[in-house]
Amino acid sequence: MSNLENEINRRRTFAIISHPDAGKTTLTEKFLLYGGAINLAGSVKGKATARHAVSDWMEIEKERGISVTSSVLQFEYDGYCVNILDTPGHQDFSEDTYRTLMAADSAVMVIDASKGVEAQTRKLFKVCGMRGIPIFTFINKLDRDANDTLDLLDEIENELGIRTCPVNLPIGSGKNFKGVYVRENKTIVTFSDTLKGTKEGETTVIDYNDKDKVLETIGQDLYDKLEEDIEFMDTVSETFDLEKVRAGKLTPVFFGSALTNFGVEIFLENFLKMATTPLPRIADGEPIDPVSNDFSAFVFKIQANMNKAHRDRLAFMRICSGHFDATKEVKHVQGNKNMRLLQPQQLMADDRKILTEAYAGDIIGVFDPGIFSIGDTVCATNMKVQYAGIPTFAPEHFARVRQVDTMKRKQFVKGINQIAQEGAIQIFQEIASGMEEIIVGVVGVLQFEVLKYRLENEYNVDIRLEPLPYEYIRWIVNKDEIDVAKLTGTSDMKKIQDLKGNPLLLFVNEWSVGMTLDRNKDLKLSEFGNML
Ligand code: G4P
Repeated sequence: MSNLENEINRRRTFAIISHPDAGKTTLTEKFLLYGGAINLAGSVKGKATARHAVSDWMEIEKERGISVTSSVLQFEYDGYCVNILDTPGHQDFSEDTYRTLMAADSAVMVIDASKGVEAQTRKLFKVCGMRGIPIFTFINKLDRDANDTLDLLDEIENELGIRTCPVNLPIGSGKNFKGVYVRENKTIVTFSDTLKGTKEGETTVIDYNDKDKVLETIGQDLYDKLEEDIEFMDTVSETFDLEKVRAGKLTPVFFGSALTNFGVEIFLENFLKMATTPLPRIADGEPIDPVSNDFSAFVFKIQANMNKAHRDRLAFMRICSGHFDATKEVKHVQGNKNMRLLQPQQLMADDRKILTEAYAGDIIGVFDPGIFSIGDTVCATNMKVQYAGIPTFAPEHFARVRQVDTMKRKQFVKGINQIAQEGAIQIFQEIASGMEEIIVGVVGVLQFEVLKYRLENEYNVDIRLEPLPYEYIRWIVNKDEIDVAKLTGTSDMKKIQDLKGNPLLLFVNEWSVGMTLDRNKDLKLSEFGNML
């Protein structure tokens, strides 16, 4: 195997998704700990103390102690080179959260064992489902009282529409949490609660056939329950099938407790084996093999002003094929220009490490002098590829923007357009009203504050935001066949357009969306504004 092939094949690039507080940050921290990337758990994020999140770049994040943007972490484990794409943990997440999922090859879904599937898990899962990427489930917080195992699995299957295959089963929970039963080799791994924050947990492995030892360790009641669960799983649950996992149709489920480190290493080891190597991406309808092609990448995120002193802008790229050599020129396909990528870097906490090389599967940040847009392709100068763009995700909150000082129209238009170009917000206009009335749509409401803050601080423009009641936006898929003026919707429906003049519809509730489709039989709507 060539060095290139070896480097690419040992890469695993995944996103961690969860509802806030399920334990995503704690689990990430433990991964890094096992990978030797950090020495002490707690250095990634602490909410209660003054410690700040890895991605605390913007002042607004620092003020609130939450993470608005996503970041990327890389570590080595057991011969693998692992890239974790962290997604904001706060419920005011943004479109960036969704876009980050476009750069990953698999996802780890963290679920709180006492809460089950929650709202944000559902939303993020939907985007992963759209791409059909493998999803690995870690049911966390077993050291606290948990919902019944079968109910949890049932909920994942019914609510998310994916089959489950437990790799291990928990034995008790909360004060009675004894450990897990590993189905593959019929053993029990016991739990020790004593070593928070260190990786050396004191676990013992017991052969399940040694009934006396098992009973002595877990007691009759938990034994009976476990017997029941095992029997049920062996007869009812789907058998493990790697093909189905990789097609996103079956999710392997692991139980554990990130806080106390229990089950984290079992999860990491198994999931790295099951997860795919960097997947081919589609360009012009054709999959581009990551190994046999030269360097190519696409931009999935643009982050402005990460360092206030420099007022810089970084474009984040996912490398899709080949080897990136920082000394070589590359082609920016959309700009039709050859160039050197400036200051290619990897981000780790507040650190930026300048890179000289990277491989397919890796994520790099490069200095952006204002030329890149989300979805752009960059590739070796001799290549001809253009990756399929990134869908525009439906904003769920809308506001009308009013300028306080109308004299500053130019700065306002420049600022709001630049911020929209970075993809933090989407801007719309009322149909045929010119640029006067701007409507801003965001995926998470915090983006409204980010917009206001950035316009004030970077463009010296004050704005007032008037919230609008709409929550559902739909792009018109067959816009060329439909006479938008004649559409008959519900009374709450509002017709707007994006800056390219594409018509869109806004609704207050989902019922109105259905009603409008009923009344206009030919109308086709989409919640993803795909590269319009
Ligand atoms: P998030 O990134 O998904 O939002 O969750 P995060 O890891 O920040 O965890 C949320 C809270 O849940 C934290 O407590 C964390 O310590 C706790 N937690 C995470 N995993 C486990 C687990 O396996 N068992 C138990 N019992 N708790 C867990 P916090 O008090 O909100 O924050 P902190 O002060 O501990 O940082």
